[in-house]
Amino acid sequence: MHAVGIVAAAGSGLRLGADRPKALVSLGGRALVCWAVDALRAGGVSDIVVAVPADEHAAFATVLPLDVRLVAGGETRTASVRAALRATTEPGRPAADVVLVHDAARPLTPPAVVARVLAALTAGARAVVPVLPVVDTTVVVDDDGMITDAVPRGPLRRVQTPQGFDRACLVAAYDALDDPTVDATPFTDDAAVIRAAGIPVTTVEGHERAGKITVAHDLAVAELQVRS
Ligand code: C5P
Repeated sequence: MHAVGIVAAAGSGLRLGADRPKALVSLGGRALVCWAVDALRAGGVSDIVVAVPADEHAAFATVLPLDVRLVAGGETRTASVRAALRATTEPGRPAADVVLVHDAARPLTPPAVVARVLAALTAGARAVVPVLPVVDTTVVVDDDGMITDAVPRGPLRRVQTPQGFDRACLVAAYDALDDPTVDATPFTDDAAVIRAAGIPVTTVEGHERAGKITVAHDLAVAELQVRS
């Protein structure tokens, strides 16, 4: 089973307050995207495609290993993953049987999480995501900030990456987005795209260290983690 890792790294650094794409922001002296690539490799996925901002190709090529392939990402994460997905069947390269899609913004994902996703795919799952329980009380508020409902947290899970898929299923699910009646706006991850195509998604245990770096506080916490 040949696995290809896709790293979505074409986002901006806006919410982080960064002056460069978030994936190029430094953590412990190395760009976030380098940590993400290392996490996939340490977990057993060596063939890697990274979706980067179209005008930042050179900057990413400078920091990443030579054997990592770069493709121009798109306006949305969905568009970026789609572009990278096309590169998983290049002539002259081993075609991917399974694809693991990972956020560059989750640099400290333990290799064990990657290995769990791979193991589930090897065991026959067509789609698998790492998840963690929701520990806070979770409520619904209206436009005035008033609580209108409380959501029982028992069955709720936070979804992380890498998310693993049978490649043909993921390609078919992304192709289905071409249908003009499908609104892709709510799809914030690949599992949502797969579920919209009616394919069941299984879960494995995630890890707190696989949390996403979104705001400056997340980066500060990650800096503490790499120093400890
Ligand atoms: O913005 P957010 O942190 O949710 O993005 C998750 C991941 O998707 C990040 O690693 C980001 O670089 C990537 N992304 C992308 N292309 C976009 C937007 C986000 O590859 N257009």
